[in-house]
Amino acid sequence: MKLLLLSLGLTLICAHTEGTHDAVTSNFDPSKYSGEWYSILLASDQKEKIEENGSMRVFVEYIHALKNSSLGFKFHIIINGVCAAIEFVCDKTEEDGVYSVEYDGHNTFKVLETDYDNYIIFYLINKNNGNTFQLLEVYGRAPDVSSELKKKIVKLCEKFGIVKENILDLTTVDRCIQARG
Ligand SMILES: *[C@@H]1O[C@H](CO)[C@@H](O)[C@H](O)[C@H]1NC(C)=O
Ligand SMILES: *[C@@H]1O[C@H](CO)[C@@H](O)[C@H](O)[C@H]1NC(C)=O
Repeated sequence: MKLLLLSLGLTLICAHTEGTHDAVTSNFDPSKYSGEWYSILLASDQKEKIEENGSMRVFVEYIHALKNSSLGFKFHIIINGVCAAIEFVCDKTEEDGVYSVEYDGHNTFKVLETDYDNYIIFYLINKNNGNTFQLLEVYGRAPDVSSELKKKIVKLCEKFGIVKENILDLTTVDRCIQARG
């Protein structure tokens, strides 16, 4: 199921972004993921996960591509109104470009598309006690991205069965930017 969803996602994004300038959808160079990012959009078919107090309502500060091919992430999450830092090391799986991490269950994710310099789109599947949900995350190098990209994400989410109402634009909420190092 997981593999099916991931490959479906890849097929969709490849079809969708054909002709987009500078966008990379395969043969990624993970070393170029490194550096500062801002969480821009969060979308999920289980909306409470990304709403206030939801486990997946996390705000990225940076990604570090590690020497052993794992990816380090630093996020902030708001707990009782206070920004708290959380860090993860996500290890590569045997499947090309797919990483995994334990957090609120078992997560596998991959990059769908990036241009390294402006935005990166992650697609994640969470499995916990027989429940599964999808999460789509868009990060920007700057605190916001173009409205064209946001429109593209709405269409992309539709194809994953994530309705527009379940896409949150985080640029208008507290993303713990003041808590960044
Ligand atoms: C890769 O390195 C990081 C940081 O040293 C470590 O936490 C992680 O467990 C390593 N991953 C693997 C698969 O060895
Ligand atoms: C989130 O948690 C805080 C602190 O526990 C609480 O005051 C607030 O009502 C919660 N918000 C939602 C939407 O559940």
